Amino acid sequence: MAMMWAGRFSKEVDSKVNAFNSSISFDARMYKQDIEGSIAHATMLGEQGIISMSDSLEIIGGLKEILSDLESGKLEIDPNAEDIHMFVEAELTKRLGDVGKRLHTSRSRNDQVALDIRLYLRDEIKEIKQLLKQLIETLCKIAGQHSDTIMPGYTHLQRAQPITFGHHLMAYTQMLLRDIERLNDTEKRMNVCPLGSCALAGTTYNIDRFRTSSLLGMNEPMANSLDGVSDRDFCIELASALSICMMHLSRFSEEIIMWCSWEFKFIELDDAFSTGSSIMPQKKNPDVTELIRGKTARVIGDNITLLTMMKGLPLAYNKDMQEDKEAIFDAVDNIKLCLVTFIPMLDTMKVLKDNMRKAAAKGFINATDCADYLVKKGMPFRTAYKITGGLVALCISKNTTLEELLLDDYKQQSELFDNDVYQAISLDTCVKERKSYGGPSPESVITQIELTKKKLGELFND
Ligand code: ARG
Repeated sequence: MAMMWAGRFSKEVDSKVNAFNSSISFDARMYKQDIEGSIAHATMLGEQGIISMSDSLEIIGGLKEILSDLESGKLEIDPNAEDIHMFVEAELTKRLGDVGKRLHTSRSRNDQVALDIRLYLRDEIKEIKQLLKQLIETLCKIAGQHSDTIMPGYTHLQRAQPITFGHHLMAYTQMLLRDIERLNDTEKRMNVCPLGSCALAGTTYNIDRFRTSSLLGMNEPMANSLDGVSDRDFCIELASALSICMMHLSRFSEEIIMWCSWEFKFIELDDAFSTGSSIMPQKKNPDVTELIRGKTARVIGDNITLLTMMKGLPLAYNKDMQEDKEAIFDAVDNIKLCLVTFIPMLDTMKVLKDNMRKAAAKGFINATDCADYLVKKGMPFRTAYKITGGLVALCISKNTTLEELLLDDYKQQSELFDNDVYQAISLDTCVKERKSYGGPSPESVITQIELTKKKLGELFND
């Protein structure tokens, strides 16, 4: 097959090179954006008198027909085409003859591909944001049901202080809100128009770049034509934002994996979201969360691929940049796959409140509260801390807990101890009294849910 650019070549390109060079297998998914960009370009060419109005209209009509034929399945994308840009243009020329050949006036595949990716990712970002919104809403719902479900909070994976399950879940909503903000920010810089940068050096035709930019719903044309075709920072920025978001999902997944274990048994996943073992009949595995943890590596890898691909490239376009698409598409595809499964998995999981409470009741999780009891009676914190340390050591030697230690033993360490210490160090008090802003008390969790919903409303303008 002769290439569209075959004019200066005396031989056909080796079939291995053609196959190697072709990007149609992965850029075909941008057909809609490619056509949308071409329609805007043809509109502007007509308006500026660069091509005749009737040619412009004919081209636009032809492009719309190609789009609807592709969507209805009447037209199939040729897997042997070099890329989606060449395919659409060749199809247009097949249909319109010479008129079709006018579309590429004052344009290059270099600005065309930069535009297509931006338009494609702009839509993907919207979808990902919607999924993150659903995830946050699901977490708010579960947190509302568990604003007073006591569980141990950990540092170094050691039981540290009591919190509520609602509080733990709401921590993730805050990370996810920031993920949405990062996507919003990325979207802002994504939505600028490289069209009209042409191959690299702009054009001698009297084009109107502001017009194409606004026809495509973009914020403004990019200010430098070399930059317009050279950079893929918008892909890298998106891949970074997605890597951070996946890292959050991965940490959450890791916790769910632990919570499902017999050692914790804090939650049970619905059968529909678990898998069994081919040999061990007792097994119920949290595969979904393990896959999310695994796919996080992949998305981070995509980000590194993009950065590494770009780091040594001179301006302007280099063919290396064709590698951008598989990496960024892989990242967006995989985060969507993860979210679509993760949300209903969370929504259907069973929370084993009693086990959480039992785990919180052991391990001197209320030792800080015991020290705070003394502080509230006037003792300096460091002294109270030391005395409580002594009490913990005493409990360990007597194989008992702070809740069960006799008042006499307490009094031997400090005269400030009285009967009310048992109330002060009870799990319920420990949690209920932690009502500092952002804290784990049921009251504070409810406030966090309200604030999160408000923020979500602001981010999505609803
Ligand atoms: N398929 C190419 C890509 O994805 C389109 C741009 C080709 N430009 C060029 N000068 N060869 O990067």
